[in-house]
Amino acid sequence: MSSKPIGIFDSGVGGLSIWKEIHQLLPMESTHYLSDSKNAPYGPKGREAIIALSIKNTEWLISQGCKLIVVACNTATTNAIDTLRNNYAIPFIGIEPAIKPAALQSKSKAIGILATKGTLSSQLFHKTSQLYSSELLVVEQEGNGIVELIETGRLHSTEMLQLLQSYLKPMLEANIDCLVLGCTHYHFLTPILKQLLPSHVKIIDSGEAVARQTKAVLEANQLLNNKTIVGANKVYTNGEKSVVTALLSSETASVQTLEF
Ligand code: DGL
Repeated sequence: MSSKPIGIFDSGVGGLSIWKEIHQLLPMESTHYLSDSKNAPYGPKGREAIIALSIKNTEWLISQGCKLIVVACNTATTNAIDTLRNNYAIPFIGIEPAIKPAALQSKSKAIGILATKGTLSSQLFHKTSQLYSSELLVVEQEGNGIVELIETGRLHSTEMLQLLQSYLKPMLEANIDCLVLGCTHYHFLTPILKQLLPSHVKIIDSGEAVARQTKAVLEANQLLNNKTIVGANKVYTNGEKSVVTALLSSETASVQTLEF
């Protein structure tokens, strides 16, 4: 069992940011990454649709023999992870906007959260956000349109720059000093955001924490791969292969298209 792959899914290529962290921390593990780009974005879809897509992705990864599943999507985690945990016996790792680390680090007592509509409207997000809203100002912003631009290879485009400028404006007016990236696609915006934000604003995402948690859960379930050869990494996409390869750059993973 321990040499079986880790399954990872996202509504598209965003979760590759999580895959990179997992691969870096656990190079001996094999991985199967499923990019459901055909159905991206998940953010504007309702909870039921997000749950149905998450079940479909999970069942495909289980059919490929995965030993654990990383839901590398904030939108799928905040809407569907309870259902997944209740229905399948294997361990699941999820990702949620890192409000707590931002709240602990903020000196101005104002933080910004950029996430999808599906995440910001979820009960799980509300519960966490409420825990901190009495002690600091949480400026929530839907990142509408960002995922679509990334999924169509327009990460570095004028449209992206204009969208980001408009989304950051209310946050900067509120004097935020931490920006939480609440969607795995947004990790790829980091170099652009650094240019648009004053240098004292920290950009916070949860990729590394998810990788550490994946390792801890594998260990606790005696599922760590104890082989000494580097694992095989496969990326499956039902969208454009070139969008995946552009984000993988020199990383070692084979990319295949999939009718899904
Ligand atoms: N990467 C997904 C997330 O973390 C993007 C959601 C979407 O497809 O809208 O939320």
